[in-house]
Amino acid sequence: MKTIIEPFRIKAVEPLRLTTRDERQGILSRAHWNLFRVAADDILIDLLTDSGTGAMSSEQWAGIMRGDESYAGAKSWYRFKERVRELTAFEHIIPTHQGRAAERILFSCLGVQGKTVVSNTHFDTTRANVEYAGGCAVDIPIPENRKPSEPHPFKGNIDLAALDRLLEDKPGEVACVIMTVTNNSGGGQPASMENLKAASAICRDRGVPFYLDACRFAENAYFIKLREEGYANRSVESIANEMFRLADGATFSAKKDGLANIGGFLATNDEVLAQQEEELLILTEGFPTYGGLAGRDLEAIAIGLREVVDEDYLQYRLASTAYLGEGLARIGIPIVQPPGGHAVYVDAGSYLRHIAADEFPGQALACAFYEEGGIRSVEIGTLMFGGADPRTGEQRRAPLELLRLAIPRRVYTQSHIDYVLEVAREVAARKESLCGFRIVKQTPHLRHFTVRLVPV
Ligand code: F0G
Repeated sequence: MKTIIEPFRIKAVEPLRLTTRDERQGILSRAHWNLFRVAADDILIDLLTDSGTGAMSSEQWAGIMRGDESYAGAKSWYRFKERVRELTAFEHIIPTHQGRAAERILFSCLGVQGKTVVSNTHFDTTRANVEYAGGCAVDIPIPENRKPSEPHPFKGNIDLAALDRLLEDKPGEVACVIMTVTNNSGGGQPASMENLKAASAICRDRGVPFYLDACRFAENAYFIKLREEGYANRSVESIANEMFRLADGATFSAKKDGLANIGGFLATNDEVLAQQEEELLILTEGFPTYGGLAGRDLEAIAIGLREVVDEDYLQYRLASTAYLGEGLARIGIPIVQPPGGHAVYVDAGSYLRHIAADEFPGQALACAFYEEGGIRSVEIGTLMFGGADPRTGEQRRAPLELLRLAIPRRVYTQSHIDYVLEVAREVAARKESLCGFRIVKQTPHLRHFTVRLVPV
């Protein structure tokens, strides 16, 4: 069958509000052309992020009612811990209110001050947390990752030769290696089991901790099942087990493949480190059996972590993302090939050649999608990753100027995506008229959230 059949039916609906183009032009200007500043009520289709924006199942809502809100040792905590342990086999599991809290605690306790953290590609909050803790975040994806139009089954891989060299050149200077699966800022692309195994072995040889930023572990595991030799007959659960067993620890945002609206965890097999992490957790997040979450959140995550490895769900998930990506490519809008698991990344830099990188072609396209059809997306380029280097003061540029259209889990149907494609055709028809932006106000860290822009 060609139709993408959503493997669920809808029990509760949330109305969407239509706006006119005139209204949207006013909204954009009042938001200083920063879509993070636009009220959600003014958005028709929200593809800003797949994080915390998914729909929970009836089982999860039932779990919300079962949530045990005891301060210490709640039943929901044990259900959460058991499911995370079953999936990951990590010894110490520390709940956090979301992924970046796990990152902050990890990098504070690992002592990254004056050291390097290496990744296939750090996500923005991961990079910012490394830098905020006084470390240096280095990205070494495989060279294919920087060639948007060339397909590769595992574009999220880390460059193993570069990793080996880095660890050789900087003995004792690398605090940890963290593999982002799937590689979000690098196009939502998966890493192969072969690559994860090799990176893990290199780190073990050198005595460097090997971590997973496991936000989208289930999508990564399903890509391995589809694309890597020897995994076609394995369950996603067992592939995920194998991925986690390669690592010394993990950070996780349950807002993605936890199928929950909030939550996360930090996990490690290192007892001494876990003790320091729990101390910091108590100071800033909460007691170690809830870590900044309500009991009902722990319950929803425990259930979400089971539902997310369901292969009917994963098949629909990847098919619907690919449907958007292939649709855009047919219109002539270049995307990072192949489409990622949770999002499609438009290569705005090569599409809008008349807009220079420091005038943010990805942002130009994001504003055009909003103005044309009320669609919110996010620039992943120099607006997000540029700005002054905290150590040298030099102005940085992102390697690629991308626009990300991220798909919330179990929220939109195929006709919503058909509407997005119709808007994309209108944007494509007037691409030459799109203009870039200049920054009028910004902050030193994560500037894209609050930046104010004006059209050039
Ligand atoms: N790591 C990755 C790979 C992420 O994509 C994110 C969040 C985080 C860590 C941080 O997790 O939001 O729970 O604190 N990504 C969202 C996004 C925000 O839009 O891609 P968090």
